[in-house]
Amino acid sequence: MNIILLGPPGAGKGTQSARLVENHGMKQLSTGDMLRAAVKAETPTGLKVKSIMEAGDLVSEEIVSALISDELSAMGDDVGAIFDGYPRTEAQAHALDGILEKHGRTLDHVIELAVDVDALVERITGRYSCANCGTLYHDTANVPAQDGVCDTCGSTEFKRRPDDNEETVRNRMALYRDETAPILPGYEARGIVTRVDGMASIDDVTDKISAIIS
Ligand code: AP5
Repeated sequence: MNIILLGPPGAGKGTQSARLVENHGMKQLSTGDMLRAAVKAETPTGLKVKSIMEAGDLVSEEIVSALISDELSAMGDDVGAIFDGYPRTEAQAHALDGILEKHGRTLDHVIELAVDVDALVERITGRYSCANCGTLYHDTANVPAQDGVCDTCGSTEFKRRPDDNEETVRNRMALYRDETAPILPGYEARGIVTRVDGMASIDDVTDKISAIIS
């Protein structure tokens, strides 16, 4: 099973990917997470992309496609892949077709999380995560059971992303509209797109996605 989770910043791709990993034993391939890890480790790629990401602009196709290809090479053939935040352009969608073919995989579903753009700004500016394990939270919609303590690992340290400010978010949304949404018709022509209401509760979205891939 190989699926793309598609949707604008804050649509819930990372939140739902984590649940697919937990409930279905799939592997999340998030180019955003990979790039943030490279920035943190100050690798040559990380140094190159740091300012691009802080501005909410798109990193080059060659860099992100190489990251995806490397991750797939390191995975067992029997493990399903969730593409989270990739592809984001026509060029990336084309590259992914070639990468999947090279790895003997086919694309089963493109799941579009449909959301209200104004609500997304609120979602993203309220987002934070556990500094230790990365579990995602939100100031009001998704708080830990015990105030200030991560549900997953018990850490009391949390962090916010540097690109989660309103100006950068609006740029990321414009890029989604102009560069990413246009890749949908190509997948629709293949009959593999399903639209899910991303404004529903996190649990409802999880149920809808589970039904699609079961
Ligand atoms: P990336 O990390 O991919 O960011 P993004 O696509 O902007 O998506 P987000 O991570 O912001 O949102 P999400 O949909 O995962 O939402 P989440 O689940 O966190 O990319 C970052 C940057 O890296 C890019 O700007 C670019 O520079 C670069 N990059 C990455 N990939 C690239 C590529 N392929 N090509 C070029 N450049 C690339 O949820 C958000 C919040 O809402 C959370 O707090 C969550 O708790 C809450 N929430 C989630 N679902 C719900 C719900 N149903 N109801 C209420 N709250 C909810």
